[in-house]
Amino acid sequence: MNEKDNEELQKRSEKIGIENSIRHVFLCAGPKCVDSNQGDKIWNHLKKITSEYNAANPCTVMRTKVNCLRICRQGPLAVVYPEGLWIKDVDENICNQIVENSLLNRQMISENVFIEKKL
Ligand code: FES
Repeated sequence: MNEKDNEELQKRSEKIGIENSIRHVFLCAGPKCVDSNQGDKIWNHLKKITSEYNAANPCTVMRTKVNCLRICRQGPLAVVYPEGLWIKDVDENICNQIVENSLLNRQMISENVFIEKKL
């Protein structure tokens, strides 16, 4: 990889806030675990609130839409790092909690966390 390629990667990394990220949410929006329309609705909400949060805070919450987390039921499903929380039936309220740093207070979404597994 040449220096120009590295610079481009650096620029893109800075643009999406990797350096300042404190959390990364991987959301499966279906189609096997949930109807894709419903999954996309939740994904769009997560994108909106993470963008707003990231624009207003020095730390960022990364989000990535995936096609499958291999559980394939009770979606939308999310896995959140660094906590290593696997969350079922993700809705807009749970997205809000994730972004508002409330995963540190797991009581709020404990019913939906079905695995806690840090790497
Ligand atoms: S399709 Fe969502 S976990 Fe497999």
